[in-house]
Amino acid sequence: MGTEHGCSITGWASALPRTVVTNRDIMTLFDTSDEWIVERTGISERRAADGPFVNPKPAVSPRAGMGTTAQLAAQAGRAALEMAGLSGKDIDLLVLCTTTPDQMVPATSSPLADALCIKGGGMDINAACAGFTYGLVTAAGLIATGAERVLLIGSETLTRITNWSDRTNAFLFGDGAGAVVVEAVPGEPALLGWDIGVDGALQPLFFADYGGPGMAMRGQEVFRKAVRVTVDSATKSLERAKVSASDIALFVPHQANIRIMDAVAERLGLSADRVASVIERTGNTSSASIPIALTEAANGGRLRDGDIVLFAGFGAGMTWASAVWRWGPGPAR
Ligand code: ACO
Repeated sequence: MGTEHGCSITGWASALPRTVVTNRDIMTLFDTSDEWIVERTGISERRAADGPFVNPKPAVSPRAGMGTTAQLAAQAGRAALEMAGLSGKDIDLLVLCTTTPDQMVPATSSPLADALCIKGGGMDINAACAGFTYGLVTAAGLIATGAERVLLIGSETLTRITNWSDRTNAFLFGDGAGAVVVEAVPGEPALLGWDIGVDGALQPLFFADYGGPGMAMRGQEVFRKAVRVTVDSATKSLERAKVSASDIALFVPHQANIRIMDAVAERLGLSADRVASVIERTGNTSSASIPIALTEAANGGRLRDGDIVLFAGFGAGMTWASAVWRWGPGPAR
């Protein structure tokens, strides 16, 4: 354990299952159209780990299936570790953010830790689509109190809990994983400001019950609340970080719906060229969506050392979280 209080994201990666589910595939399930889905959500396709048409539940236990939450997470985590020049034994804490754990017991971080040879701590965070940002705040906090290296992963197999006969929301969701290595480095903290919250009274807006048909959502209400809580949360984080929207080099929002992302960016005064978006090809991957979008942006050369990045997400609960982060230095090894 170190005593340095600065931290940095030194590795990043994402993993998407091979199976592509297009809007045309969705059209075989119920009455809808490619145009309607694209216009309402910005989504053209998503990926499915266990095959999309396992309605209402997979034929096999996720433990036996290909493309579990842990398997996707391991793929992304391994690549992020490799980029950082580390192995699992270097990790003090594994934080897996997921709302689709593979089993009730144990936490999915346990088989994941085994797959990655991690013997430090391991835990799951379930804060739905706000999960990754909750995890980033947790990772930075752990580093501020002495941890040296945290592997933070968002991984989801949402197609396992999608109600494929519900035409009001089945087209939204996809599977995937994204991972970052957060390391202690000398210098100033990277987490400049943050805000997290939950309003449990709003849980009827979006839920999935054990043994039920899958996710149920009151879409229009979620839409309205999502815009409000994300803007409020991001505004608090910006104030706490003492930066303004014009200082933000890149906004990495939860990828739920392009109209929500656009509305939030516009209200915060962020131009479209500063927004990271992968939703067209991934759909909503819940806690995986931010690290997947971050990975694409970083690999595309959109981030330089010193850049200020804003993360913000909302999800079932209703949860929300935002964080202002100073980017860099990247991989040192
Ligand atoms: N295809 C075609 N028409 C449809 C479909 C469909 N799949 N589903 C509904 N319709 C019809 C409805 O019947 C309705 O028709 P009517 O006007 O004749 O009655 C019309 O389209 C409009 O329906 P709405 O439900 O009002 O559609 P809306 O514009 O609200 O769009 C959507 C629905 C895309 C789900 C939107 O509400 C939304 O994106 N909400 C937020 C969803 C979200 O982001 N959820 C995740 C957040 S939490 C997390 O990320 C984990």
